[in-house]
Amino acid sequence: MNAIVSVTEDWGIGYKGELLVRNRVDMQFFKNNTMGGTVICGQNTFESFPGGALEGRRNIVLSLDPSFEAPGIEVFASINDALNALHDTDSNDVWVIGGESIYRQLLPMCNRALVTKNAVQLTADAYFPNLDEDPTWHVESIEEGGVTKAGIPFSFVTYVR
Ligand SMILES: NC(=O)c1ccc[n+]([C@@H]2O[C@H](COP(=O)([O-])OP(=O)(O)OC[C@H]3O[C@@H](n4cnc5c(N)ncnc54)[C@H](OP(=O)(O)O)[C@@H]3O)[C@@H](O)[C@H]2O)c1
Repeated sequence: MNAIVSVTEDWGIGYKGELLVRNRVDMQFFKNNTMGGTVICGQNTFESFPGGALEGRRNIVLSLDPSFEAPGIEVFASINDALNALHDTDSNDVWVIGGESIYRQLLPMCNRALVTKNAVQLTADAYFPNLDEDPTWHVESIEEGGVTKAGIPFSFVTYVR
């Protein structure tokens, strides 16, 4: 299983339900990597998508709200139920896409994390675990990404364990 995330310098990922950094290049990177696979997210993250379910991907959404539904998604009320629904799916094609609560629960099952690192400090209320402080993870590759329209330098860092 893979995680894919965009972080600031202190591993912030969101504030008041929104992403911290807007970046078209990173959105394309996310699309290229997840296309054709299965994405898993929490209800809050799903509700932040402007267009609903992500096209070309199986959309798994975790929610404890029994009335929650939306076109193109499968809703599960527990991590176990979601993982059971994926028993015949190659775990290399499964992408954990957030938010904080889902990353924290599923990161222990991931062996690869694609982290877009933004060289900026911003106020956040949602975080990804700091993989640089976790000795079970190490950096496999770093690719310079460029600079966002707002002038934030970013790079694509692949962590494995
Ligand atoms: N930078 C990035 O790459 C990135 C990616 C995605 C999201 N984000 C940001 O992350 C923030 C959202 O994170 P979040 O932690 O608030 O929300 P979230 O993880 O997207 O969703 C939380 C929701 O999922 C439900 N849930 C969690 N675990 C569950 C489980 N095991 N079974 C069933 N339902 C479960 C929660 O229900 P209960 O509350 O009832 O437990 C809650 O409704 C936003 O700011 C968003 O922009 C950033």
